Amino acid sequence: MDSIEELRSFLRDAYGILISREKDYLLTSRLAPVLRQLKLSSLRELWTLIRQDPKGVAERAFIDAVTTNETYWFRDTTVFNNLQDKILPEITERRSQNALVRIWSAACSTGQEPYSIALCLKKMELAGKSIQSRILGSDISSDALQRAREGLYTSFEMDRGLPDSDRQKFFLPEGNMWRIEPAVRSKVTYEQINLMSGRADIGQFDIIFCRNVLVYFDEDTRTQVINMLAQHVLPGGFLIFGNAERPHAAFREAFESYAPNIYKKSG
Ligand SMILES: C[S@@+](CC[C@H](N)C(=O)[O-])C[C@H]1O[C@@H](n2cnc3c(N)ncnc32)[C@H](O)[C@@H]1O
Repeated sequence: MDSIEELRSFLRDAYGILISREKDYLLTSRLAPVLRQLKLSSLRELWTLIRQDPKGVAERAFIDAVTTNETYWFRDTTVFNNLQDKILPEITERRSQNALVRIWSAACSTGQEPYSIALCLKKMELAGKSIQSRILGSDISSDALQRAREGLYTSFEMDRGLPDSDRQKFFLPEGNMWRIEPAVRSKVTYEQINLMSGRADIGQFDIIFCRNVLVYFDEDTRTQVINMLAQHVLPGGFLIFGNAERPHAAFREAFESYAPNIYKKSG
């Protein structure tokens, strides 16, 4: 097997991400800066390093380079309208006042998704409907997670989906960038979690967002990941997908379709 094929298989087997042979040019062009950064002269050397040091520097750089981290604020407004107007009020109504509402943004990229959720919660708080909540953001890309933890965004990123009123209320200018205010930032914790392996110890959630990542997986992996996520949803809780990410039939029997892309677990 040549090294590009080894790298492609590794990406599929360890992370679920499919890159077809026709897209080798994409892989090669995304990996050129990694070779420069690690002072390597070939993909063979990169593959050797990845094998020698699992989860080490080379593997992290490889994953950072090959993942597509496209994201923006309040992506899919219907989902966020449902979250704010229906789902969060429904959850808080049936839970005791001080119960913690847990939300997981699985594959959170650079943080716009978990912070959009945090902004919904913050606005509810300001409107007098205070909710005790914690949000977990997770991804496999170390670079994306680092940026999410910093909560610092360029003007270009700020212009993608964020209402001006939110920018004024919840962000502080820093040079020509914008930092999310600490009170919103502190609602979210970040962890590196590979959806292929999951993390049994993270417990159950009222709501899980898993959006625009399943599209990179093949059908079996999608089913496996959705089944894993379904176990982390509390009875009566919600699992939210991206557009065009339709879950498999067995899942649709166990979860009720609640709104576009939103499924509710019975109980
Ligand atoms: C296109 S972004 C979607 C971000 C956000 N959920 C949204 O909808 O805007 C896809 C993210 O999935 C992450 N990802 C890809 N494979 C993953 C895996 N096996 N486990 C966890 N995250 C993964 C990528 O690193 C990337 O940040």
